[in-house]
Amino acid sequence: MRVKIHGAGSIGNHLANASRRLGWQVDICDVDSAALERTRTSLYPGRYGKWDAEIGLHESAKAPKSGYDLICVGTPPDHHLALALAALDEKPRALQIEKPLCMPDLAGLAQLVAKAKAQGTAVFVGYDHVVGLAAELAQKRLKTGDIGKVQTIDVEFREHWGGIFAAHPWLAGPHDSYLGFWRRGGGATGEHSHAINFWQFLAHEAGTGRVAEVQATLDYVSDGKVDYDRIALLNLRTEGGIAGRVVQDVVTVPHRKWARVQGSTGSIEWTCGVRPGFDAVRWWTNPGREGFEEVAKTRPDDFIRELQHIEAALASGSPDASPLALARGIETMLVIAAAHESARTGRRVRLDHSRPPDLDALQS
Ligand SMILES: NC(=O)c1ccc[n+]([C@@H]2O[C@H](COP(=O)([O-])OP(=O)(O)OC[C@H]3O[C@@H](n4cnc5c(N)ncnc54)[C@H](O)[C@@H]3O)[C@@H](O)[C@H]2O)c1
Repeated sequence: MRVKIHGAGSIGNHLANASRRLGWQVDICDVDSAALERTRTSLYPGRYGKWDAEIGLHESAKAPKSGYDLICVGTPPDHHLALALAALDEKPRALQIEKPLCMPDLAGLAQLVAKAKAQGTAVFVGYDHVVGLAAELAQKRLKTGDIGKVQTIDVEFREHWGGIFAAHPWLAGPHDSYLGFWRRGGGATGEHSHAINFWQFLAHEAGTGRVAEVQATLDYVSDGKVDYDRIALLNLRTEGGIAGRVVQDVVTVPHRKWARVQGSTGSIEWTCGVRPGFDAVRWWTNPGREGFEEVAKTRPDDFIRELQHIEAALASGSPDASPLALARGIETMLVIAAAHESARTGRRVRLDHSRPPDLDALQS
């Protein structure tokens, strides 16, 4: 595979490393030449041991065009869709766009959907947790049917964002990045949207459909310097009628990244980082059977698995069936947009999936 990555930041380096580990050819582009230099001299060697001179580094304006199998968009969310639309002109086999897919105003999303569909380009959104090994174990356990009829789903991604700023020492704080601005795709709802996406993944696996209702309480910080939600509490109901909850925040220490599916005769729990270097799945069924399985993994492994998944999804000929497919990323964006709308109006927001998403309606 020949891969182009937009953004020489944290995720751009992870995706570049994962591509190289798979023996793929990689070019990284960035509008900021300091970011390219930082990648070569500190970020990449600091994380993965040494710089890999096979990786091409290019200022965006002078970057090579066309001939790529996969183009990844790993920039701040407010640039995702403009870059993705331009990337489609290069006619890659696939696009991978980082989470969250776009800004909560959904500007540009309808054009992306139409253009990708017209061209037949597969589009994936970077919610890597749903294709992790522990998620696969939870999925298999759910498919056995041992836990009976699914009653409720809970997912929490609660993590103080100090770790993100530690990994970005060049940022002075939330005000210095999209992170401090929910309208640009930051705040807890955007940054930790892995939880919403994971909830949707479990709901689909449980056969209860898409999210149909969102009722949210968001705790905003708005002081003239930043404008973001630090805590997001979401009550969700699916098309199939299951009610559940998502909690995302940027204040919790130590972190908790956890999911639970409760059925009529048992339950399944997934934990990311149950202890350093391990994810885990725990399950119980009545009467009295239980299991616990740990999965060793490193952070780079998450992205190697994600790219392997994308390669396999392309080879399968049905990339739309992937849990990383664009439709799932859009579903997550609709929940993010609805959460802000619910917080603004104090009302429950209904998502109508019976017709193509009316991407403007949520903003009215
Ligand atoms: N899937 C995951 O687990 C995961 C992990 C980290 C980040 N992310 C996502 O990746 C995205 C980027 O996050 P990050 O932490 O890497 O940010 P970052 O600030 O470390 O890097 C972003 C880079 O994009 C560059 N950039 C900005 N506009 C650009 C443009 N128009 N063209 C090319 N380059 C441009 C910036 O100069 C910067 O170097 C976000 O959407 C974030 O949520 C996902």
